[in-house]
Amino acid sequence: MINFKTRICEIFDIEYPILLGGMAWVGTAKLAAAVSNAGGLGIIGAGAMDGEMLRREIERYRTMSDKNFGVNIILLSPYADELVEVVMEEKVPVVSFGAGNPTKYIPKLKEKGIKVISVVSSDSLARLVERSGADVIVAEGMESGGHIGDVTTVVLVRKIVDTVKIPVVAAGGIVDGRGFLAMLALGAEGVQMGTRFVASLECEAHENYKKKILKASIRDTVVTGLKLGHPARVIRNKLTRKVLELEEFGNTEEAEKFLIGTLRKAFEGDVDNGSVMAGQSSGLIEDLKSVKEIMEDIVREAHDTLTELSHKFLGR
Ligand SMILES: Cc1cc2nc3c(=O)[nH]c(=O)nc-3n(C[C@H](O)[C@H](O)[C@H](O)COP(=O)(O)O)c2cc1C
Repeated sequence: MINFKTRICEIFDIEYPILLGGMAWVGTAKLAAAVSNAGGLGIIGAGAMDGEMLRREIERYRTMSDKNFGVNIILLSPYADELVEVVMEEKVPVVSFGAGNPTKYIPKLKEKGIKVISVVSSDSLARLVERSGADVIVAEGMESGGHIGDVTTVVLVRKIVDTVKIPVVAAGGIVDGRGFLAMLALGAEGVQMGTRFVASLECEAHENYKKKILKASIRDTVVTGLKLGHPARVIRNKLTRKVLELEEFGNTEEAEKFLIGTLRKAFEGDVDNGSVMAGQSSGLIEDLKSVKEIMEDIVREAHDTLTELSHKFLGR
């Protein structure tokens, strides 16, 4: 089997350069532990937590895995400062920041020996966080689930690998070995996946959420919150029809009210009135698998695809 080791494996001390994307509500300790135990980097999504909730989730992680892991903090969170204190006290090995500019937190995390990942959707932010000492950049394209920017993964990754020297991980639209290999060809040194891992046996989201992903086609997602300044990709449902209508007619306050607490609703099974955050890649996912199977299938398929390509084009 081809060894796909990159600098990402060295930095995080992991076997495969595959990261679990931080996911508010959905990225629990159980899912993170499954990814780390299968050789990737599990990341606990602290997006909807306060400090004490995060501390409990870290403790839960440690009962399930002794492997390296990370915590994802959304910079929009009112608890961001508190969460950064908790990760330092708990000596969490890796912190990933989403939805904003994390530069003010980087120096103190680095002082404690904590590795920092910054999730970006532009080359200008990539440049800035590299200068501030980030260890890894996740270039997240607009086909991703959750909060997004406006550039596609292929264009963003290609641009950012030529902009920075630190390793770049590609996110958005990747579910299998072909996607993984394509990102390596662009110059990324690993991938981060969200949607694929939601549709796993270990994910603690309600089965209705997983079914929505399995049933979706590649055109079944929409972007809510564009007019509210925080666009998010979700699977179309009763809620999105209402919110998009309110946004279209400029009722932004009411649209905002409708969205509060909706990811939790979906997580708990109300996939009509909840925000079923998921990427366009939902349309590529057809089966519910264990995390271990997902990871092993990616590596096997990447191996087979690369072998086939080299037969076809290099004659060996
Ligand atoms: C349900 C869900 C919740 C998410 N929440 C967060 C979050 O709290 N913080 C963050 O940085 N990214 C978040 N994301 C983005 C993921 O970390 C990841 O980058 C993205 O899902 C990759 O694209 P993919 O869904 O096509 O795999 C979320 C994605 C999903 C699907």
